Amino acid sequence: MGERMRLDRLLATMGEGTRAQVRELVRAGRVTVDGVPARDAGMQVDAQASAVCVGGRRLCYKPVRHVMLCKPQGVLTAARDPKQRTVMDLLPPLYAAMGCMPAGRLDKDTEGLLVITSDGQLAHRIISPKHDVGKVYLARVDGPLTAADAEAFAAGLHIEDADGAFDARPARLDILSSGPQQSEARVRVTEGKYHQVKRMFLARGRTVTYLKRLQIGALPLDPALAPGEWRELTEEEVALLGQDAP
Ligand code: URA
Repeated sequence: MGERMRLDRLLATMGEGTRAQVRELVRAGRVTVDGVPARDAGMQVDAQASAVCVGGRRLCYKPVRHVMLCKPQGVLTAARDPKQRTVMDLLPPLYAAMGCMPAGRLDKDTEGLLVITSDGQLAHRIISPKHDVGKVYLARVDGPLTAADAEAFAAGLHIEDADGAFDARPARLDILSSGPQQSEARVRVTEGKYHQVKRMFLARGRTVTYLKRLQIGALPLDPALAPGEWRELTEEEVALLGQDAP
């Protein structure tokens, strides 16, 4: 047996409308439970086992939802914002109704992999530095990068700037290209302080001009997802989140 709840709550949670709207659907005879038209919006149903249909369409309730979003630039990582578009605005309302929240933050101008989940423990595991989950970024900076930069990242940088001071954990810097005007590197960090990667580069005299998250743990961003696109994670992919990034 699955989770028992009121029919109107199930329908609202599944994004079929507000409580008032779904009650109206029930009154209009558009909702069936196990093949029988529902008469009472307050009736108890088994969210997983009962066959709940709206206009003949069967609803598929899952108690937890995990989404992989390719976050575009220009969108806030927040549950909601009165003025600006947030990552939650890119998903159907069902996900917010099911309590999904972004697991960690990407800056407004950063793009790439963001996990949005209704599982608070999973979110904590991804975010908390205690769990050592690696996050891999592609960074473009405004000048050359050298082996000395990679060594400084590996040793653990001391950051001291307008946003405060902290000792960054050792991080890996793989230089992909280096030039006098622009360089590209892959960076792996295991913590997510405010503007972490940008501040690490700034401590080495470089400004990040483009930042994209490529991987969390052993889970890579699906290359088929364009910025703004998303899909649900498979169970295998959720397990990859807890594994170490290569
Ligand atoms: N580090 C940053 O500086 N910004 C991000 O969005 C993520 C990591």
